[in-house]
Amino acid sequence: MKAVLCTQWGDPSTLVIADVPGLTPLNDEIKIAVHACGINFADPLMVQGQYQLKPPFPFTPGIEVAGEVLAVGNGVEHVRPGDRVLAICNYGGLAEEVVTTFALPIPDTMDYVTAAGFAVVYGTSHIALTRRAHLAAGETLLVLGAAGGVGLTAVEIGKLLGATVIAAASTPEKLALAAQYGADHLINYSVENIKDRVRALTDRRGANVIYDPVGGDVFDEAFRAIAWEGRVLVIGFASGRIPHIPANLALVKNCAVIGVFWGSYSMNNPLVLGSSLETLLDWYAAGRLKPHISRTYPLDQAGAAMTALANRQATGKVVVTVR
Ligand SMILES: NC(=O)c1ccc[n+]([C@@H]2O[C@H](COP(=O)([O-])OP(=O)(O)OC[C@H]3O[C@@H](n4cnc5c(N)ncnc54)[C@H](OP(=O)(O)O)[C@@H]3O)[C@@H](O)[C@H]2O)c1
Repeated sequence: MKAVLCTQWGDPSTLVIADVPGLTPLNDEIKIAVHACGINFADPLMVQGQYQLKPPFPFTPGIEVAGEVLAVGNGVEHVRPGDRVLAICNYGGLAEEVVTTFALPIPDTMDYVTAAGFAVVYGTSHIALTRRAHLAAGETLLVLGAAGGVGLTAVEIGKLLGATVIAAASTPEKLALAAQYGADHLINYSVENIKDRVRALTDRRGANVIYDPVGGDVFDEAFRAIAWEGRVLVIGFASGRIPHIPANLALVKNCAVIGVFWGSYSMNNPLVLGSSLETLLDWYAAGRLKPHISRTYPLDQAGAAMTALANRQATGKVVVTVR
């Protein structure tokens, strides 16, 4: 089979395509004919050796796929050969075949490109906003990086949960996309001060929940706009700087700073992850979610797909088509 290979730490442009041996599923594993692989912020980091997981060389990047089940190990009962599924893996997704322990059937109406970009971003935002932040109808949600992969899904799910959503992003085009997904108010943080605008939009109360996949200066400004008894969701550091949290402000605002690591549920509490994804797939089947895929790339341009994400050029999801 064909697979993208990382043979040394480096820029995504150093990735190569090679023919590699096929795979056999072990007891609890599912072998999938990959049709599409969603690109995530973690992918270029893993290729550069800057991600917490550092697989041995050569390895194939790619952590979420969609495709058809080819074979299952003895212990697998919830999917069968021929099923259309989305799946999560530690790495290995940018290949014609992958084996994994986590796969879920997808609705007939969901195409493989959409399915390949669904689990990580919607799963992260759903667990963050419901289980972690307990976002309630009528509350105000501030989403930073609101047109990015996770950000746009936070806007969409925030609206479904009945929140007033303030979307913040770096360009008018990105904000226009967030508005299409239901954002009530828009802040361009390239030219506007986040704290001043949020306070003006909320009668000086601030945002009840802040969803932050960006970190850096954007986090520093936004943290000062949290409401009394607010919740700040630490999702990621796309800006490249991990912010320091001023503990005195947390005290004064009675606020909670809440970490979210979606992937850790697969080891610590897979039932939560599975039931969240089932809810999201039901919402999709009912027409309540409209995943935004801004661009697809063929397998031999997987490196370019990663570079587009890392360079802030993408909106919503970027997906690599494999078959
Ligand atoms: N905690 C979890 O479980 C979890 C799950 C998935 C992803 N994440 C993390 O969340 C972050 C975003 O992931 P994503 O898939 O949404 O990525 P993405 O689609 O690239 O979105 C990231 C957004 O961050 C903003 N940004 C600001 N400075 C940036 C910079 N220097 N480089 C790139 N982007 C920058 C961009 O929006 P503007 O241009 O509007 O500023 C961009 O749209 C990453 O750190 C990722 O690792 C965490």
